[in-house]
Amino acid sequence: MRGIGYGGDYNPEQWPESTWPEDIRLMTEAGVNLVTVGVFSWSRLQPAPGELTVGWLDRVLDLLAEAGIGVDLATGTASPPHWLVAAHPEILPVTADGKRLAPSSRQHYCPSAPAFRAAAADLAGRMARRYAGHPAVTMWHVSNEYGCDVPACYCELSAEAFRDWLRTRYGELDRLNEAWGGAVWSQDYTSWDQVEPPRTAPSFANPTQQLDFARFSSDELLACYRAEREVVAAHSPGTPVTTNFLYLSRPVDQFRWAAEVDVVSVDSYPDPANTEAHLFSAMTCDMTRSVGGGRPWVLMEQATSAVNWRAVNVPKAPGQYRALSLQAVARGGDAVLSFQWRAAATGAEKFHSGMLPHAGTDSRVWREVVGLGADLSRLAQVAGSRVPAEVALLLDWESWWALELDSHPSRLRLTELIREFYRPLFEAGVNADFAHPERDLSGYRLVLVPALYLVSNAGADNVRQYAADGGTVLISFFSGIVDPDDRIRLGGYPAPWRGLLGLRVEEFAPLTEGAVVRLDGEAGDAGDAGANGDERLAVGRVWQDAIDLHGAEPLLRYAEGRLAGQAAVTRHTYGRGEAFYLGTLPDRATLRVLVEQACRYAGVEFRTDLPAGVEAVRRGDHLFLISHLDRPVELDLGGKSLDLLTSDIVGPAVVLGPRGVLVLTARD
Ligand code: GAL
Ligand code: ZN
Repeated sequence: MRGIGYGGDYNPEQWPESTWPEDIRLMTEAGVNLVTVGVFSWSRLQPAPGELTVGWLDRVLDLLAEAGIGVDLATGTASPPHWLVAAHPEILPVTADGKRLAPSSRQHYCPSAPAFRAAAADLAGRMARRYAGHPAVTMWHVSNEYGCDVPACYCELSAEAFRDWLRTRYGELDRLNEAWGGAVWSQDYTSWDQVEPPRTAPSFANPTQQLDFARFSSDELLACYRAEREVVAAHSPGTPVTTNFLYLSRPVDQFRWAAEVDVVSVDSYPDPANTEAHLFSAMTCDMTRSVGGGRPWVLMEQATSAVNWRAVNVPKAPGQYRALSLQAVARGGDAVLSFQWRAAATGAEKFHSGMLPHAGTDSRVWREVVGLGADLSRLAQVAGSRVPAEVALLLDWESWWALELDSHPSRLRLTELIREFYRPLFEAGVNADFAHPERDLSGYRLVLVPALYLVSNAGADNVRQYAADGGTVLISFFSGIVDPDDRIRLGGYPAPWRGLLGLRVEEFAPLTEGAVVRLDGEAGDAGDAGANGDERLAVGRVWQDAIDLHGAEPLLRYAEGRLAGQAAVTRHTYGRGEAFYLGTLPDRATLRVLVEQACRYAGVEFRTDLPAGVEAVRRGDHLFLISHLDRPVELDLGGKSLDLLTSDIVGPAVVLGPRGVLVLTARD
């Protein structure tokens, strides 16, 4: 691929063959150069066991090749056909309360069922043998959104596979009993075959059993992916292989998975009804770039307008498809695809928007689709460049799974918390990566640690050493609480970081939903946070830690409630670095001041001149300015600059129209 990829899922088998030439003509008109074909086509690729029946696909791929349109060719295994289910009913997945799911939808497979794995690998192999080297085939697309509809299966086959997985992890049953806290609630096992998935139980299922089952389920899906990838790579060497991840989603550990794909790709469906849709999608972009270690990535799916699967499906605002597509490019995407090319006329997704809507080409959506194609063709030189980031937010799927288990002090949701810490960075034009706690952090000036509940010894040491060597960290409440067995690290929280933070948390006092507690300033800028230029009070939300200071300096204290007078937010010098701690979740304005202060300590530029709703992202030699506002906004560019989208020289003063975008040559 040269330049930026553009297109969407193309499902020609849902349409009479007579529409295909029109598809190709319109794709060319829109500048489409990459389409995903065959994701859910199993029943049309293999109407019966055995050979492929792919005359139709041959003809489609040839048409696309002739038009110079690349194909991200699916292995076709995302939705097993009815004949396979009839022959092997045991491939149907089972829920935690023992219900076997029906095959009348999609993704109805148990990842541990041998018959499913064999059939999927067989189809993938036949596809790869037949289409390896086809001039249209640019990339292979294994399955689809692993874990989206069925994140885990609780059937007997899965139970057996779970036992095998546990034997590998623990070796001895006694070690499992130890790790799972068998002494609690009479949970010791005396034989491996007593061990089961965490099926619906009278009260809370064993937390470590649940955590291991989440690890196992991610690994089982990964094994399905690997089996297909291996057979594809064997027959079609040199063609990159991907599978599309689901945005900010829990079931699969994307750090582990990304190491196994040639191209990282993601599906992003922010809710247009949410005024912060652009913040959510920005996090998805940054996470996708980060799991791939900074490599350019592919936005595999998004909607041109509405989806069909929310209770109320609001269309994208005019210009929003463009703004969010260019956001993906700004944040390291090298291809922008949508689900799907032609909005379907039948089936479950007929009210999902497409690039070519039901109304046809005389439509707002089609005009935007053509417009975006033209925009992307002007951004060819951006492709391949990197997005520099000086700030990292630590993220670990294992910690995420453990954090959101039941029977905790409060029901915390990781993506909601991450969003709180991400927002001020986004608003200040600070590029941020997500980083696994055990990776080398030395390239970052500032590391934020939002609710990293579970941390390994290696991860804990890594963060400590990073600060000792001069890094700045900002750690939130409910971090460093347990080890990888979900066992409390004793002696006062957060045990591995008490020295780093210069404090000890003795007790948690979470706040009920909507409750707030007033905070008083005491030192430095954060002390002014409450005033922040107006009379607004600083408050804490969600959580309160009861903090004993052991060297840390309080920046904010609780001004009321059971912890009145005690420190709520602190700072501590550690080695050559600096460690901030948040024992509560400050209101947005106060959190912004604190994050700004941490950025200043760390020497990270924190822009305060960006109007709310305007995003600034640097990628390679370019600065993207993206308005997510539905009204014009004035910007001061501080000089003149070339806009790649229009080839105009713009600035220093410029008015960005509603959801307008500028792609400027960056100036230092
Ligand atoms: C994704 C899926 C697509 C399509 C889309 C609709 O989860 O991969 O096939 O269903 O959602 O938004
Ligand atoms: Zn199963």
